[in-house]
Amino acid sequence: MKIIAITGSYRKGGVIDQVVDEILAAAEANGATTSRVFLTEARIEFCTNCRNCTRQDGMKRGVCRIDDNMGKILDEIEEADGLVLASPVNFGSVTAVMKRFLERLVCYAYWPWGRKIPKVRNRRRDKRALLVTSSAAPAFLVRMQAGSTGMLKQAANLLGAKTTGIMSIGFAATMEKPVLTERTRARARALGRDLAKTA
Ligand SMILES: Cc1cc2nc3c(=O)[nH]c(=O)nc-3n(C[C@H](O)[C@H](O)[C@H](O)COP(=O)(O)O)c2cc1C
Repeated sequence: MKIIAITGSYRKGGVIDQVVDEILAAAEANGATTSRVFLTEARIEFCTNCRNCTRQDGMKRGVCRIDDNMGKILDEIEEADGLVLASPVNFGSVTAVMKRFLERLVCYAYWPWGRKIPKVRNRRRDKRALLVTSSAAPAFLVRMQAGSTGMLKQAANLLGAKTTGIMSIGFAATMEKPVLTERTRARARALGRDLAKTA
């Protein structure tokens, strides 16, 4: 089975990067092949709200006019069985690079001009998703607000994935070079293992 991680952290070796390392290593140890997209390194343009992709009828994602890396990333996600969406919480939301990626998922909705709200093209949830956030605030506050995890969950739904695990790491902004606690590592490994087994 294939698992792909999409990460919206701005730094390698940070909390999100290390947690995703653990998740993917555990998934591989349980038979998965894994890949990873660092959104800071991908060429992803902003959605221009031209609605070209949303006007196309049918179950498949609409074709976007923008020629960048997004199409290839979405092809890889569609081929995968499991998905990890991971982002720091910045200004109470996912990071800007993650948000830019999320907005481009509008191609999975049918929304011609004249229609008030979009309709999700495909409501099947054949994949499994794991959502990860990190924040300076304690994890329970982020979970209570549900803004960032809510956005990632909505994205997972659009991508045909049922969310089976959520990991929120609080107090994640104290160290320049973060060292994960053994508890956090163990939780990440357990979620990676479960994702590989259920995806
Ligand atoms: C511009 C900026 C905005 C931030 N806003 C928030 C915030 O609103 N709430 C919060 O709990 N942490 C906030 N943080 C802290 C980050 O969430 C934290 O540094 C990050 O989760 C660490 O992840 P990383 O090691 O992968 O970079 C902010 C950090 C930056 C740089």
